[in-house]
Amino acid sequence: MDWGLQNRLAKIINPQNNRSLMLAVDHGYFLGPTERLENPKKTISPLLKYCDSLMLTRGVQRTSVTANTSVPMVLRVSGGASIIGEDLSQEQITVTMKEAIRLNVSAVAMSMFVGSKYENQTIVNLGRLVSAAEEYGIPVLAVTAVGKELGKDARYLSLACRIAAEQGAHIVKTYYCDDFEKVTDSCPVPIIVAGGKKIPEREAMQLTYNSIKGGAVGVDMGRNIWQSDNPVPMIRAIRSIVHGNANVDQAFKLYNQLCKENKPNKQNKNKPNKQNKNKQKT
Ligand code: R5P
Repeated sequence: MDWGLQNRLAKIINPQNNRSLMLAVDHGYFLGPTERLENPKKTISPLLKYCDSLMLTRGVQRTSVTANTSVPMVLRVSGGASIIGEDLSQEQITVTMKEAIRLNVSAVAMSMFVGSKYENQTIVNLGRLVSAAEEYGIPVLAVTAVGKELGKDARYLSLACRIAAEQGAHIVKTYYCDDFEKVTDSCPVPIIVAGGKKIPEREAMQLTYNSIKGGAVGVDMGRNIWQSDNPVPMIRAIRSIVHGNANVDQAFKLYNQLCKENKPNKQNKNKPNKQNKNKQKT
């Protein structure tokens, strides 16, 4: 593997333990001001030091993340659809490699929509993005986005993950499901698990634990961290599973201890959490 590509990957997936904690804050690219991510800077700032990498758009990177950070950026380079539009799968590549390099990102990311109306367009775009990114030694994270009509089951997810890997993706993001080993076993590149919509904290810890036990390198978690009433204790508890080999009981105990020590931040304190009722794409 080219040195630059290998070096960038090592910033995202720790080569010492083959684990990764990515904080996802890219939701606004099709959801707009997502609950508790209305002000990205306020959401990201207290969490930044606890993640291995940050997944975001260029707009949020430029406006809401300090350039002094050493945290690697995973830049979403696809878009073109919105939650109120006709079809969420109608995405194109919206950011050039030159721009990704200017932003000094450690990887680029895009969604592919296997089984959807725009399947062909997104798979071809993934192949093209890999070709363009490899010229500069930049890894590509493929997000296996799941349309409402498609089930999150091992048969479908292993199909989507394998197609992403065959197109040359260096990391694949997908969902945890029953029989998850079937998905990880048949995907020749590392798999990272998306958190999905907000669930109770302990369940999100269980999801993280199960994902790693099932062969994932870690989680790319967003809403289950920053939609928690206690985002810092939550990311630290998730980190204890990913990097500290904590089990769910240990992580939940840590979470409760940290909650006692940390007051919830204002942005989260003032708004009781509502379960996100929007249709979810990813
Ligand atoms: C969706 O917009 C993005 O791909 C997210 O990065 C992904 O869904 C992970 O975030 P969450 O844990 O909130 O599902």
